[in-house]
Amino acid sequence: MVVVSLSGCSRDQHDHPNLTTGEQLFNYHCAECHGVQGTGNLFNGIPANILTQKSHQEIVAYITTGTGQEREMPVFSAMPIAEAKVITDHLFTLQKTYDKNGSQIKQLLIEP
Ligand code: HEC
Repeated sequence: MVVVSLSGCSRDQHDHPNLTTGEQLFNYHCAECHGVQGTGNLFNGIPANILTQKSHQEIVAYITTGTGQEREMPVFSAMPIAEAKVITDHLFTLQKTYDKNGSQIKQLLIEP
């Protein structure tokens, strides 16, 4: 079992020129908590973010803004908006691909 620390996260760093796709960026910045399939970890209080009711725009804002005091998820205030957008694109792809238990409901599109 992996115990995730919710504090002291230094994940809001963006010197990663080799990471370009939404999948790579999601896996780097988000999967530590939410899992590569976005199914979260209820035991650690991490929601399945693929089940979110938020819109694309709301998620981009949720990732990049806020004080961080009203929530446990870190605020990625240094993240470029363009990066938050491709990550959110990937989140919606995951949403169409996996159910909340991480079972694949559709074949993942393999990028060339
Ligand atoms: C340190 C752990 C952690 C990391 C890293 C993290 N999250 Fe979260 N996330 C949470 C927690 C905990 C919540 C539940 C709400 C809260 O307390 O902030 C959450 C909530 C969310 C929600 C809202 C879900 C809903 O029900 O509407 C979305 C969307 C989300 N995260 C997306 C992301 C994305 C995208 C990233 C990467 C840029 C990310 N998270 C990185 C811990 C994390």
